Amino acid sequence: MTETSAVTVSAVAAASTVRKATIRDIKPILSLINAYAAQGLMLPRTEFDMSENIRDFSVFYKGENLAGCGALHFYTPTTAEIRSLAVAPEGTGCGIGRAIVGALEQEARDNDIEAVFAFTYVTEFFARLGFQEVERGELPLKAWKDCLRCPKFQNCDEIAVLKRLKALSGPFATERATLIQLREHSV
Ligand SMILES: CC(C)(COP(=O)(O)OP(=O)(O)OC[C@H]1O[C@@H](n2cnc3c(N)ncnc32)[C@H](O)[C@@H]1OP(=O)(O)O)[C@@H](O)C(=O)NCCC(=O)NCCS
Repeated sequence: MTETSAVTVSAVAAASTVRKATIRDIKPILSLINAYAAQGLMLPRTEFDMSENIRDFSVFYKGENLAGCGALHFYTPTTAEIRSLAVAPEGTGCGIGRAIVGALEQEARDNDIEAVFAFTYVTEFFARLGFQEVERGELPLKAWKDCLRCPKFQNCDEIAVLKRLKALSGPFATERATLIQLREHSV
């Protein structure tokens, strides 16, 4: 993310911005995410997995301390998932989550992404940011590759939410059409 596209949050320290993560952010990100994972609120991450995916991540620091993180993962040339979103417990309610999602959305727009989606328990938070609940079947078929690896695959209770950034035209539209056709043929 360029300096000009970094999102500043007025509700917290003026110097606080969202920036792209680097390999040096892995340890604090792991601490933050895995503390929530221990409460069953997020999926745990490993150092190996983080190293592979660190370029998806953006971070928000308050001084020396990591206050929040989130990741944008591309699925198709037109769709991306917002995931691994976490704000440190002492920093919630100050607009940090909104700032991180805003920065991830901007990153998506910079890449001509048409829609971003998330699987979440905090639907109200995403609703405040303009996301709508959708049927899981509305999401790109590729999203299921991660679901297949997830320990909660058999009894997943997360809710799918989606925000359109512009009119759908690319593979997402094609995949949706394919899904609709498959459903119609299976009835
Ligand atoms: C969910 C989470 C990211 C929200 O971050 P945050 O910095 O507290 O959120 P913000 O302060 O930016 O809130 C933005 C808006 O959402 C609302 N909101 C935030 N969390 C909410 C919640 N749990 N339930 C309902 N509304 C919520 C806020 O009131 C605010 O509303 P506004 O439009 O009236 O201002 C944070 O609480 C968190 O990390 N939770 C634990 C991990 C988790 O569940 N991550 C999500 C994985 S998908």
